[in-house]
Amino acid sequence: MTSLIEQAKQKAAYQAVDEHVLPSHRVIGVGSGSTVVHVVARLLQRDPELNAKTVFVPTSFQSRGLLLDGGLNVGDVDQYPDIDVTIDGADEVDSQLNAIKGGGGAHLQEKVVAEAAKKFVIVADYRKNSKILGEQWKQGVPIEVAPFAWRVVLVKIQNMGSKDAKLRMAVAKAGPVVTDNGNFLIDAPFGLIQDPANLLKDIKLITGVVEVGLFCNMAEIAYFGNEDGSVAIRT
Ligand code: A5P
Repeated sequence: MTSLIEQAKQKAAYQAVDEHVLPSHRVIGVGSGSTVVHVVARLLQRDPELNAKTVFVPTSFQSRGLLLDGGLNVGDVDQYPDIDVTIDGADEVDSQLNAIKGGGGAHLQEKVVAEAAKKFVIVADYRKNSKILGEQWKQGVPIEVAPFAWRVVLVKIQNMGSKDAKLRMAVAKAGPVVTDNGNFLIDAPFGLIQDPANLLKDIKLITGVVEVGLFCNMAEIAYFGNEDGSVAIRT
């Protein structure tokens, strides 16, 4: 049986696709994670002819596989830099539509594909819906770092106030998680993040940081599937 969380993800994803993917669209950005699975399912269900006229730009190994498994056309962002709309999940979204992303370690490609789109739409379940970032997502801000620099970056992040920041370790391997881009990840908890744009700027200025999983002033709209089957929309 489908769980309430899975149903909530599906509701949010289906509504976002129905309201933001238009017949005139030719290039669609597809994010990563478990909610985006429902985005692809809805795209395929709604228009079996979609593939004849549309290219999909993935944001990770996972999302590329999802698109290829669905028989969809896949393109790179450098081939298709003008994306009509990108739909992606999030780990947490605040009342101003700032988001934490990168729980799956894909936020570098996700940010590039979101920035290339005319419109960036977030889909998530109710657990991601917060007033302030850090309320619910306790794992910290995901930070992609150049492998050789991780220790020096970690010390600087800790000195910025994230004393529990740590290198993300793999589960089925003795060693760190390696991203799709060959980098390492640091997860940095900062408590409640009152000013995410400033924190993003400060972290990004550390040499060795590749990208920060704070998406500030990027999303136009977010859909949150609720436990009761409704969908909350934030603009
Ligand atoms: C991937 O790195 C993340 O940014 C995902 O978009 C985010 O973790 C959401 O994933 P779920 O849809 O699985 O919650």
